[in-house]
Amino acid sequence: MTEQPISGTSAPARGSLDAAKVPYRTAYTGAKIPTIGLGTFGSDRFSGEKIAEAVQIAISVGYRHIDCAAVYGNEHLIGPVLRDALAGGIKREDLWITSKLWNDKHAEADVIPAFENSLRDLQLDYLDLYLIHWPFPNYHAPKVDVTSRDPNAKPYIHENFMKTWRQLELLVDRGLVRHIGTSNMTIPKLKLLLRDARIKPACNEMELHPHFQQPELFQYVVDNGIVPIGYAPIGSPRRPDRDRTEGDSVDIEDPVIVRIAQRLNVHPAYVCVAWAVQHGHIPIPFSVKREQIESNLHAAISAPLTDSEMMEIKGIDKNCRLIKGQVFLWKENQSWEDLWDIHGEITQ
Ligand SMILES: NC(=O)c1ccc[n+]([C@@H]2O[C@H](COP(=O)([O-])OP(=O)(O)OC[C@H]3O[C@@H](n4cnc5c(N)ncnc54)[C@H](OP(=O)(O)O)[C@@H]3O)[C@@H](O)[C@H]2O)c1
Repeated sequence: MTEQPISGTSAPARGSLDAAKVPYRTAYTGAKIPTIGLGTFGSDRFSGEKIAEAVQIAISVGYRHIDCAAVYGNEHLIGPVLRDALAGGIKREDLWITSKLWNDKHAEADVIPAFENSLRDLQLDYLDLYLIHWPFPNYHAPKVDVTSRDPNAKPYIHENFMKTWRQLELLVDRGLVRHIGTSNMTIPKLKLLLRDARIKPACNEMELHPHFQQPELFQYVVDNGIVPIGYAPIGSPRRPDRDRTEGDSVDIEDPVIVRIAQRLNVHPAYVCVAWAVQHGHIPIPFSVKREQIESNLHAAISAPLTDSEMMEIKGIDKNCRLIKGQVFLWKENQSWEDLWDIHGEITQ
């Protein structure tokens, strides 16, 4: 992975947003990925129309990277915004549009139709990145409680995952998607995929914020030429109640983050986004508010954190996973840790 140099320690001046100034990460194909994207999962709080409006605002202020997914239920509303942006003069090659295959579409025959739905909804000829959203095919309806289980739930079965991956490879062969990748993976699962993939994953989307830095997985991903994309970069402070567990920590209340925010005279969210970019991954913060959308872009451009602040933030990692994925469990009396192969082997 190569990257545009990111430097500078001064507090940012407002109102100087410029898409051309957004740093980028380089995929192994040589493609440049803008190093901040707009998240589009509304945490059940916003209508699809409101999120489509956020995409419109984001593109107008300089974002060129949008993180979509079929399961967010709003791609058909984001599509017209992308169409208008392209009609308004933005070049397709300057946009980076991601979508994701949902868990109920892992079967070989379902992958390409599911992709085609996203492509049609987004009103595009190709996607820049298509991810397998979770490595488990276990279906659960959107918005269900964390105690909900798919009666046919299965553990990760590599042979089955590869059947799904082969369909993604076909999409690349057909020119319908430029890159394919993974999300919510672990090192043991990625090792098998890297061994068997004909087309390597270009990106891995993973939970990443100051209190959950996943250093080993991060390093593994980077060492293997995969670009890390960080979800919940602000610590998802407004995530749905079902994704809240006793003991979860709050990044934007951390004294280190708050102190740096005070120094810069910015919201702690700004520090989280700046940390992500300076740390070397691509944050995809969500917001529907113009001011926040602009502020997050500014944080990505300005790189305001000093080396000692970066070291301090390294020291506040609490290994606090927020999105635990309980609904994907496949056996009675399991714990969510089983989804994350914490003992270094794929849990069966
Ligand atoms: N691959 C996966 O499995 C996966 C999983 C989860 C998420 N994602 C992706 O990651 C994206 C981001 O994750 P997320 O939405 O859970 O968490 P997040 O981006 O960490 O948090 C979003 C919230 O932070 C607040 N915020 C944003 N910018 C701010 C600013 N400048 N100042 C103050 N507050 C600010 C907003 O709260 P208020 O609304 O209260 O202002 C917003 O709702 C999602 O939208 C989705 O695209 C992917």
